[in-house]
Amino acid sequence: MKKVLVLYYSQAGQLKRVIDSFISKLPDEEIMVDIKKIIPKRAYPFPWPFYEFFDEFPESVLMDGCEIDDVKNIEDDYDLIILGYTVWYMSPSIPITAFMQSDQAKKIFKNKPVITLIACRDMWVLAQEKMKNLLKNVDAKLIDNVALTDQGKGAYSLVTLPRYLLSGKKNPFWFFPPAGILENDIKSASRFGKRLNEALKNNEEKLSKPLLKNMGAVNIDGKLIATEKIANRSFQVWTRVIKFSGKKYSLGRKISITVYVGFLILLLLTLVPINIMISKIINKFKKDKLNSLEAYYELPSGR
Ligand SMILES: Cc1cc2nc3c(=O)[nH]c(=O)nc-3n(C[C@H](O)[C@H](O)[C@H](O)COP(=O)(O)O)c2cc1C
Repeated sequence: MKKVLVLYYSQAGQLKRVIDSFISKLPDEEIMVDIKKIIPKRAYPFPWPFYEFFDEFPESVLMDGCEIDDVKNIEDDYDLIILGYTVWYMSPSIPITAFMQSDQAKKIFKNKPVITLIACRDMWVLAQEKMKNLLKNVDAKLIDNVALTDQGKGAYSLVTLPRYLLSGKKNPFWFFPPAGILENDIKSASRFGKRLNEALKNNEEKLSKPLLKNMGAVNIDGKLIATEKIANRSFQVWTRVIKFSGKKYSLGRKISITVYVGFLILLLLTLVPINIMISKIINKFKKDKLNSLEAYYELPSGR
């Protein structure tokens, strides 16, 4: 009997739906699947009040995990671990970071093959780099990465996702599509579990090689990588400004968050469109560089 552990944190439930589909064809009489949710001691609200949403920004970026409950009835002899996480401010979400930094993680991940499963808007490349480090710190072996992202163009989800997170409204409006991942993409994630079922029966997880190659596990837009890197640079300054302006949820933080959001809106309306236009021209001359960046960040599973 093979044993698979699925560990995840999903705040509003979308990642959980992705996981349910992903593993729907995985268990049978030879494969047991154990699903465990990471539970923060202080639950995050949904929909998010405006200031609480931005208050999580410094801790996400600086990877200060929150307090979490111990995961109950967890074993330490799994054949494969599937780690489902969402991205908060281009970093793994705070509860997942907290778990990866815990003593429990050190025990269960040691020398185990791990598949990361991401469900987010569309910016996960730098979060996955952080996750690679967290996995390295617990001696885990990352063999695959699957990333599902929101429907519509990135510019649309920049509107539909915050609208959904701050109001709970997911419906399409004007020319915007619904918020979140396309239902069909969620449904078709079951192909990965089906493949893992075969792979586990052939002991392929022991080979330390990707099991989900040529299955559309990820699809990276090279142009977004540059945007993530630019945003990350400004994050490094603003996280510190907000963090040092007061304790969590304090008035000091509210003031610095207000200034930050004003700055963000100004950036979105001015520098971002200019940057997109300039990048379009520059990218024409940097096709090879973009292709090699895409190939690197698509590892280990590839397209
Ligand atoms: C505080 C916060 C910050 C987020 N930041 C990002 C981000 O930087 N990049 C991204 O692609 N998605 C981001 N998201 C979207 C989440 O990754 C995820 O898609 C969404 O929260 C729904 O997941 P859930 O229903 O499983 O909780 C963020 C969500 C939250 C709540």
